Amino acid sequence: MHFAIIAPPVPTQKWKENFERIAPHIHLVIGSETEHPEKVVCAMVWNQQKGALSIFKNLKLIFAMGAGVDHVLSDNTIPEHIPICRVVDQQMAFSMSNYILMAILNYHRSWYEFQDAQSRKHWAQFEFIERPLKIGVLGIGHLGMDAANKIHNIGFPVIGYSNSPKKTIFPSYSGDQFDKFIEQINVLVCTVPYTPKTHGLLNYSLFEKLKEPTYLINVSRGSVQVEKDIIKALNMGLISGAFLDVFEEEPLPKASPLWSHPKVKITPHIASLTYPKESTRQVLNCFDRIEKGLDIPQQVSREKMY
Ligand code: GLV
Repeated sequence: MHFAIIAPPVPTQKWKENFERIAPHIHLVIGSETEHPEKVVCAMVWNQQKGALSIFKNLKLIFAMGAGVDHVLSDNTIPEHIPICRVVDQQMAFSMSNYILMAILNYHRSWYEFQDAQSRKHWAQFEFIERPLKIGVLGIGHLGMDAANKIHNIGFPVIGYSNSPKKTIFPSYSGDQFDKFIEQINVLVCTVPYTPKTHGLLNYSLFEKLKEPTYLINVSRGSVQVEKDIIKALNMGLISGAFLDVFEEEPLPKASPLWSHPKVKITPHIASLTYPKESTRQVLNCFDRIEKGLDIPQQVSREKMY
């Protein structure tokens, strides 16, 4: 039985080691160069080229090597009948929530101002208050929900918004209640999946609806944000700062004004990474369930696109 990894930018050594250890009966093909494409029954993918899977005529499973599946679904050459699954991993949620908390806490406790004071050997006692935050998590799926629960448990006021109603331990909104959500917050954490509906969602007309200067944290996808609108909103004071992990173009071009904007913090799409050990276990589990004709909880809905 052959599984293939079609993920040009991803280092594959750890995946290889895990397959050798956990599933030595599976022959792992890296890339699409194989003499026997017909033997490949599962393709693990990340930013694959459009049409790259068409040589595999007997695929039973496509597994996205991360939480987001927009890159897989953008390939309309993939036959409808092949299930697409994704990583749903507690470790990934742990890591993503920690990133979000780091961004929130740095802002809350004026960390950058204290760093600046230190660089000037200045004793800045009494100069900065703990900012009173009202945090809104936009997108309360697996990752957003984990972050919102932790924010709530620390003691910050937090509300959530999702497409469909969710059972939450904090107030949450859905469907046409978006304006109600956006009007109550001064920190916006974006954890939505990328779909045609969320394309360019973080734009100037949304920022204009904010009632207070708001700190923006985006860990979802770059195409969800309109970078020129973020800069405009920062300069107009609608946004008080931005902590961004994702960008319209990645790597972020050197010419982007975001790099040097004094109110912007940048990380290179690392808010949460895939853990090959757990992900290998999940691919094997998904495949096993397909072989047994069982449903797969982490199967992606092609209609919802997540
Ligand atoms: C990373 O961006 C992921 O979707 O896992």
